[in-house]
Amino acid sequence: MIKPIALSATHMECCSLNESVPVLTDLLAFQKIGEQPGEVKLKHPNTDWVLYVHESGGEAAVKQMHNHWGVRVETNEEVDAAYEYMSKNKEKYGIKQIAKPLFNHGSYSLYFLEPGTNGWEIECYTAALRKASMAQKAGGVYAPHWTTTYPAERFPGRGYVPHAFTHGTLACADMEASRKFYTETLGLEAHQANPNVFYIKHPNTKCYVVCAIRQDFKRFSPNFRFTITVGSQDEVANAHDWLQRSQAELGVSELSDVQTNGSVSSFLVSDPDNNWWEVTSPN
Ligand SMILES: [Fe+2]
Repeated sequence: MIKPIALSATHMECCSLNESVPVLTDLLAFQKIGEQPGEVKLKHPNTDWVLYVHESGGEAAVKQMHNHWGVRVETNEEVDAAYEYMSKNKEKYGIKQIAKPLFNHGSYSLYFLEPGTNGWEIECYTAALRKASMAQKAGGVYAPHWTTTYPAERFPGRGYVPHAFTHGTLACADMEASRKFYTETLGLEAHQANPNVFYIKHPNTKCYVVCAIRQDFKRFSPNFRFTITVGSQDEVANAHDWLQRSQAELGVSELSDVQTNGSVSSFLVSDPDNNWWEVTSPN
């Protein structure tokens, strides 16, 4: 089994960085922490994991809403305020779809489509957390993802404050095959949320990936992926050797070669349902 030290990053593919990045920074409180041609590195200042955005021009496939990412606010009123603010500014930010907030599996959430083809959610779990047992359920993903709220003065004028970047999502066809791959191959935790959904996470961090059972879903490029970090370049090489030797038995769909860039090694691996993952050594 791979022994990751973190679920460290996720990668989103968009049509145009100029269109998509302002949505993420101005409406969801991400900050730009790095940039190179065709790629922007973002981080929510209150959250451990990193979001890379890749520009693919017209080739970026439109995601179904079951491939979305989410940030969390503290009150339901903030979800309503976000809906109001974003509806007023949707032309400015190129938002083509925004749905009215609704209660959905415990959260009060709004969903929208950013101009680069990706779904995003602004969620609130405060109502669900009135039930004391909720905070411990499903690996603790419903409990607040922050120890300190993100200061409202750093995200003023909108009526809402995203306090954390909480989750991404992917689709799988066979829950047991996927759960086995994520826990016994990638070395992550799986927590059942409901009969059709489980959450994947690393025990040390709050961020998680929602894995939802679907019968009909698309295959995307590796520009849409999740990244786990292992302890060293040697561990990357060992993980790669193991996956290569046992590819069929482990349910690996595709495996790239190891790439080394300076002191960082990494490779791409596609899971039984063709969702892309990256295994990397620390930066
Ligand atoms: Fe979600």
